[in-house]
Amino acid sequence: MPQVSRDETAAPMIIEDWNRLTFRVNRAAYRSDEVFARERELIWLRNWLYLGHETEIANPNDFKVRTVAGRPLIFCRDTAGEVRAFLNSCPHRGTVLCRDTEGSSKLFQCFYHAWTFRNNGDVAAIPDEAAYESGENLRETMRLRTVPRLAIHEGYVFISFDPDVPPLLDHLGDAADYMTMIEQQHVGGVQTLPGVQLYGVRGNWKLAVENAMDGYHFAPTHNTFVGYLRENGFAVTDDDQYAYNLGNGHSLLVLTGHGGRISMIWEPRFGEDERVRTAEHRAEMTERLGERRAHHVADESHILYVFPNLLLFDIEGMSIRQLEPLGPGRTDVRAWQLVPRHEDPASRALRMKTVVSFVGPGGLATPDDIEAYEAVQRGIEATAADPRPGLDYSDMSRGMADEVKGVRGRSIDEGAMRGFWRHWAAAVGFDPQVAGDRPASFLEGRDVR
Ligand code: FES
Ligand SMILES: [Fe+2]
Repeated sequence: MPQVSRDETAAPMIIEDWNRLTFRVNRAAYRSDEVFARERELIWLRNWLYLGHETEIANPNDFKVRTVAGRPLIFCRDTAGEVRAFLNSCPHRGTVLCRDTEGSSKLFQCFYHAWTFRNNGDVAAIPDEAAYESGENLRETMRLRTVPRLAIHEGYVFISFDPDVPPLLDHLGDAADYMTMIEQQHVGGVQTLPGVQLYGVRGNWKLAVENAMDGYHFAPTHNTFVGYLRENGFAVTDDDQYAYNLGNGHSLLVLTGHGGRISMIWEPRFGEDERVRTAEHRAEMTERLGERRAHHVADESHILYVFPNLLLFDIEGMSIRQLEPLGPGRTDVRAWQLVPRHEDPASRALRMKTVVSFVGPGGLATPDDIEAYEAVQRGIEATAADPRPGLDYSDMSRGMADEVKGVRGRSIDEGAMRGFWRHWAAAVGFDPQVAGDRPASFLEGRDVR
């Protein structure tokens, strides 16, 4: 990470000009240690954060260990069946308590002095407990440290390190219904498949957010995949595809021209048997949800970003991605596949094939995207400390003219990114420099019920 002598955050972080129709982001936002420290305090320790999916810990005593916002956590279901999140740190003297990554256990025992805790946080045993004569109720004060808030929406488990954070559904706002739409695709809802794909990216976490909301890059960056779709009889188009800001930093791409959806939109590469299954499933959905809702649930692909660390890809297959920033130029990404709880084995096999071929870490999309955002980070670090005004800003102006006219934003425009950046700037306390009149309302959510 480059060391920059001058204060990079003195220049405006965001410059938007509605007379010239330009929107620029200061590249210090992606590489400055000071910005990163502010984000840690003002975003990551104050918001709701995605922790994991309830189905990852399906049975009592299941646990997973993972780090969120730099804090090692135990994510578990206690013996009574309740979902919990504890700091993975021994209350005695701080040792990492659970050193496995996952498993099933009623107890967690610290290897250092063998203090032992139940999976509801109670102290189970303290060796030679009688030697403590402080008068303090040790079993009460030395319980496992619970993450202050935990709430679940449609199986997605969120935590917050801020005890005073507003209710989860207030934070999710319009994003909540798109999570419900995934659940509604199949009777019985969805579950995660065992196993996680974990990869490190040499890039700032916000580049991953931009990339997911960036329909503009699809055809050039993923030209191998686009060629593959064309060869298989699917015409890739950017027509009739939109980007929305959902408020609170969340955003949504609605895509209809980038390929089929297992058991919902058939295309020739899925084969004839799947055509029949798709028609049956689609009829069942219409019956269950009504035509209008079934249309939104089945016929559109959605890429949903929930501020700050969750991405839901509801495209050919469904996957969850969780962003974990390690530093200004380093991000860990964890990904899980979501599948219907009840699914025909042949459809499941097809789903797995498409997941592996496109969104998986060795698929036709993800390596391209990682290469893109690592290349952006390298380029951004190269312009650090350049004194020429304007050189060190990234441009996100696409679609501003339509925004002024009140025309719905296209997926290949950058309106969703602008909404994210405005929310980000407000969260970390940078006032945008605004010239001209920002359109009053644009790209807000839509009614899909
Ligand atoms: S630090 Fe865990 S038992 Fe002492
Ligand atoms: Fe991409």
